[in-house]
Amino acid sequence: MKNIIIVHGPNLNLLGERELGVYGTMTLKELNSQIGQFAHQMNIEIKNFQSNHEGGLIDFIHENRKWANAIIINPGALTHYSYALRDAIASVNLPTVEVHLSDIHKREEFRRHSVTKDVCAKQIVGRGKKGYLMGLEYLVGIKIIEELQAFILVTKNKDEVLKQTVKHLKGKYPKYTWVGIYLLEGDELVLHNFMGKPSPHTRIPLGKGICGAAVQEKRSIIVPDVNLDPRYLACSVETSSEIVVPIMAEGKAFGEIDIDSDLENIFHEGDQEILEKICSLLTQIWLT
Ligand code: DQA
Repeated sequence: MKNIIIVHGPNLNLLGERELGVYGTMTLKELNSQIGQFAHQMNIEIKNFQSNHEGGLIDFIHENRKWANAIIINPGALTHYSYALRDAIASVNLPTVEVHLSDIHKREEFRRHSVTKDVCAKQIVGRGKKGYLMGLEYLVGIKIIEELQAFILVTKNKDEVLKQTVKHLKGKYPKYTWVGIYLLEGDELVLHNFMGKPSPHTRIPLGKGICGAAVQEKRSIIVPDVNLDPRYLACSVETSSEIVVPIMAEGKAFGEIDIDSDLENIFHEGDQEILEKICSLLTQIWLT
């Protein structure tokens, strides 16, 4: 995911002045600058655009359809009635994330419906500035899934696919300090491959640590602060947060993806969604 356009609809030029209790104090300039910094860290080039005019937004999307690999759009009030904007998004056929600063589902009745949502890959609401950053991460995630899908089609070798998965995740998400895949062998999780500092925990008994718990409980676990979780098996003093997602099919666990970050409270439901999609892709190599 190299080039992404960030499209802001009507009245978003007044962020920082407009209904502060709903949209916060951040100006559009500050918002664009923070999106820009985050995109830079993720090696993504972005172009920002804001217009109060439906046609201006549509023209911008058309003009950039060959440059952009994806779109993040906050259509403002046009969300709720602009079929022309909806068609523009559908016409350019680029993966698109619809973002709203506020939670439109908890506001007035007319805001709860989006005519653009169905042509978008995802809608993120009520997360303020973070919603745009989550949108960037999501778009990177769906690109990784696409690439892994293509890789699995040509490479049936399980080890290669698992290595490629770790490489993609570690390479594309700077916040992922350590990425590893453990496979279940009997009652133990055995480290298959990883990127990051070597871990002392190459074999983990089922039920032990956060890794062992996720596979035993057959559910993803996010730990915002590992220092507050007694289950945490320390790998590195720098680690602050962790996410573990089991690789499961037909109710059976085969292993897991384990990711550590030096940043506190960094994993969210978007990481979990992408990693769960990747895990269900990986199960194909066991089931076929
Ligand atoms: C908005 C929500 C819309 O309903 C509203 O018209 C906006 C902003 C949001 O970001 O929360 O202008 O898209």
